[in-house]
Amino acid sequence: MPHINPSLLAADFAHLERDIRCLEEAGAKILHLDIMDGHFVPNLSFGVPVVEAIRRSTRLLLDVHLMLQEPKKYLSAFCGAGADFLSVHIEVASDPRFLFDEIRQLGAIPGLVSNPPTPVEAVLPYVNDCELVLTMSVMPGFGGQSFDFRVLDKIRRIRCVANENMLISVDGGIGESTIAAAAAAGANLFVAGTALLGKPDVKKQFLRLKQLAVENKS
Ligand code: DX5
Ligand code: ZN
Repeated sequence: MPHINPSLLAADFAHLERDIRCLEEAGAKILHLDIMDGHFVPNLSFGVPVVEAIRRSTRLLLDVHLMLQEPKKYLSAFCGAGADFLSVHIEVASDPRFLFDEIRQLGAIPGLVSNPPTPVEAVLPYVNDCELVLTMSVMPGFGGQSFDFRVLDKIRRIRCVANENMLISVDGGIGESTIAAAAAAGANLFVAGTALLGKPDVKKQFLRLKQLAVENKS
């Protein structure tokens, strides 16, 4: 702790295994996989067969972020494909506890995600019913967007009520100029796509981000 979770959305899909090796060598422990359905978010990414292929190619933990209108339908498929963490959005879960129970029964660790406009009060009642709370710092659907600093207050509020061991993740626009503030607010998992895989020296950048997260840890 803290961990930098590289988002493979910014990887070279023609050389996914090469990019995963590079992230392993850099010291990554968890890979972040963004699953988009073109309904909950206005974009498509990849699905179950790609997660299975990633699972076969690495022993790193897989943090699967479901941006799906109907996540319940796909929990079993993504757990079967090898997800270690499986996160669903509060915006499409009327009672996320049922989804958390199902995810645990399927052998994965449940997480809850919220979009920037969703008030933190919608998330707080469920924080200690799951192990990972992910706060989006951009509207989901695309990599390479700018960090919305309003997320920091949400992270602070979540940190206040969360168990000591809670994984508090932040996703979107994380890079050298934003990670310190997110760490100081209480985040301990940092999803980074463009600001990591878009750099010529990925290993050096991974270590730089990790260092900033450690130095500014709350
Ligand atoms: C956005 C995804 C993010 C995305 C982050 O919908 O949830 O995980 O890959 O990308 P960057 O780090 O480029 O903002
Ligand atoms: Zn994500």
